[in-house]
Amino acid sequence: MSVMEITKMEITKMEITKPEITKAINTATEILKAGLPDFTHMFKEETSLNNYYFPAENIEWTPGFLTGQYWLAWELTRDDAFKDAALVQVDSFDNRIKKKIGVAHHDMGFLYSLSCIAAWRLVGSTVGRDAAIMAADQLMTRFHKVGNFIQAWGEIGAKANYRLIIDCLLNLPLLYWATQETRDEKYRTVARLHTQTALKNLVRPDFSTYHTFFFDPETGEPDRGVTAQGYKNSSPWARGQAWGIYGTAIAYLYTKDPACMDMFYGVTDFFIKRLESGCKDMVPYWDLIFDDKHGQPKDSSSAAIACCGMLEMAKHLPKDKAAYYTSIARKIAGSLARDYAAESDKSNGLLLHGVYNKQSPYNARADWGVDECTLWGDYFWLELLTRLSMDWKIYW
Ligand code: GLY
Repeated sequence: MSVMEITKMEITKMEITKPEITKAINTATEILKAGLPDFTHMFKEETSLNNYYFPAENIEWTPGFLTGQYWLAWELTRDDAFKDAALVQVDSFDNRIKKKIGVAHHDMGFLYSLSCIAAWRLVGSTVGRDAAIMAADQLMTRFHKVGNFIQAWGEIGAKANYRLIIDCLLNLPLLYWATQETRDEKYRTVARLHTQTALKNLVRPDFSTYHTFFFDPETGEPDRGVTAQGYKNSSPWARGQAWGIYGTAIAYLYTKDPACMDMFYGVTDFFIKRLESGCKDMVPYWDLIFDDKHGQPKDSSSAAIACCGMLEMAKHLPKDKAAYYTSIARKIAGSLARDYAAESDKSNGLLLHGVYNKQSPYNARADWGVDECTLWGDYFWLELLTRLSMDWKIYW
């Protein structure tokens, strides 16, 4: 190995530095500011094309990640242009839930926590508060007592759709918040039941995770784990594992259940071990079955999500464990800052080299957003930078 190669390896395993955080925040907020004329009344598509986003209506599961970026940018810069844009978008979310546009699925938390709950918490927007309660009620309609879980997609109760997915752990804070806000226990009860069912069935004995899990609609008995976006049913889809990391941290935050802490340790250590053994730069490939030998695309968004989960959980862990996970998160963040963060003349997104869907011989997805910016990758990158630069109060 040449001296240059050794030096490069050492640098990629270095924790992010203060000047790197400052530079990354400046670049990200400049990119967002430049995009405001195009992306206030319109949102961004789920992923970029050649690193540039096109405008999109507020209909998919992802627009909340843009409004969330504006709230973070406002907190970081106090530039009211971001607040004004976010509030325009909150009105759009209010309209969306009132007219029930594209809400027949479980992603109400991704949509409403980062837009409307953030608006309520940061600037006291009652439009945001009321819309978020409506979104929580919408999410509650997908809960099945037979099986004790929230159905992710498709026609309610249909056998072909009788499943939960790991991503849903990030939709549950909406329910915890709704209980805090309304004092009605029903939301928290559903969130807790879903978490128990999800963790019991999605996490394998080695702490890798299934993406989705089916149940018998008549008995509620667990049936089988199946992937939708991972390489195959038995492999650990990288973003699913990352949702598991942040999802267990959030579950612990709201329940203080030690079982959630144990699950956090398990799924996070599995993720870290895969990075340390197979990914020189500490950023995963789109499925954790792959390593540096396989020539597969990276999913930077998984890295950013996992880091946010580690930094959240570090607030609740004993000192030595907190220091360990914080250091890992700072190393991954260093790698993202050096090799994945977008420059303003090359992209209108924030974080390059993500994957939405990658086709495999074992999944039914077509390639979509492969080696592109993803709207959630951009959001979690900015959340990570925010967490590293200030004492941030969570929107989730
Ligand atoms: N929640 C969908 C995804 O992570 O692609």
